[in-house]
Amino acid sequence: MTKVEITVMKDGPYKLVGPVSIEDHEGNEITVREGKTVALCRCGGSTRKPFCDGTHSKIGFEGAKAAVERASEK
Ligand code: FES
Repeated sequence: MTKVEITVMKDGPYKLVGPVSIEDHEGNEITVREGKTVALCRCGGSTRKPFCDGTHSKIGFEGAKAAVERASEK
């Protein structure tokens, strides 16, 4: 299994470092090559979903303070 790195950016997007494959709602596959970085929208405001377009800064998006483990995963 390949390890996928996902970083939650403070008040911003999810940053993914390839290699990773992203499939959109129509089944289209986007391949992110090894070492390449993409940012996925977390605020819901991007016009380029699933990718971040910087809108989070303009709308003052505030993410959760910290990650919380789900009770079922403890
Ligand atoms: S997180 Fe950047 S536009 Fe939504």
